[in-house]
Amino acid sequence: MLLKIILRSGPCWDSPGWLRVYLAGLNNPVTRFLLLALRIKFSPAVLENIRRADLPEMEKAALFSGAMNLFRAGTAFKTTAAARSPLTDSALLSKVKPGALIVETGVSDGISALGLLAQAGNAEVLLTDLQAAFPYERGPLCTRYYGTDGAYLSLKFPLFLLCTGRKPAPPAGAPVVSLLNPLVSEKFPAVKLAAFDIFTGALPRKADLFKCANVLNLQYFKTDEILRAIANLSANLNEGGWLYIAQNNGKYPDGEAYLGLRKEDGRLSIEEEVNGHELLALIK
Ligand SMILES: C[S@@+](CC[C@H](N)C(=O)[O-])C[C@H]1O[C@@H](n2cnc3c(N)ncnc32)[C@H](O)[C@@H]1O
Repeated sequence: MLLKIILRSGPCWDSPGWLRVYLAGLNNPVTRFLLLALRIKFSPAVLENIRRADLPEMEKAALFSGAMNLFRAGTAFKTTAAARSPLTDSALLSKVKPGALIVETGVSDGISALGLLAQAGNAEVLLTDLQAAFPYERGPLCTRYYGTDGAYLSLKFPLFLLCTGRKPAPPAGAPVVSLLNPLVSEKFPAVKLAAFDIFTGALPRKADLFKCANVLNLQYFKTDEILRAIANLSANLNEGGWLYIAQNNGKYPDGEAYLGLRKEDGRLSIEEEVNGHELLALIK
């Protein structure tokens, strides 16, 4: 645990300008090595600072997603980008009926759902993720951020982020830093990012279409966990509904593969398969 705390703590300056320099530095092997060796960190405050910054809309959105790429949700990274899974989006959109509920799970900051939101017509779109917001508490010396890096409590001092290695529950009614990308809220003010765990979550209304992109990966989860998550998503899906499981990876033609599973008589079966998704053999 001590090693975890050391690795997850470090110098921290939550300025959007510094974040831009940092992200550019990660693209060069030498500066990347230096930045990682120095264990530079960003706290959730950087998201609020980006939201408030006087920047062009698109630059703000890209910087926000860039910051999200640095956070984690347990074993999964929060890496995301706009227009990431166009093949999956168009397959899913071809099944939309008026009044349907489309749920994108594990959506990170929601930027990957812009295409679905723009083309959903009169269907409802709900964005969900394990983490929808980071609760916080301001103190005289530091701000306490709950649930960062998966579940840990982190203390943000003026220029240092300390991961405590503890996972206390946030106090009831604590204010939160929303993880919804400012471009999504600007373009679709009614859209909400709701907390939903693919393993245990229960939606208030069953979905007609689920999109789950870049979440159910063998790199993040064991095979029994993946099957458990699919069973829970199925329980949250209406009869006749579809679950799209997608992955973006250079190993696939077009950089994207997906599986389209349809629920009939309470069971899911693979009806569509594009580009050899890594879970094909497991789910079959
Ligand atoms: C690599 S990101 C993918 C983001 C987006 N779907 C995309 O394709 O750009 C993985 C996301 O899965 C979410 N995640 C991890 N475990 C989860 C769980 N148990 N339930 C719901 N979401 C989860 C993470 O919080 C993270 O936002």
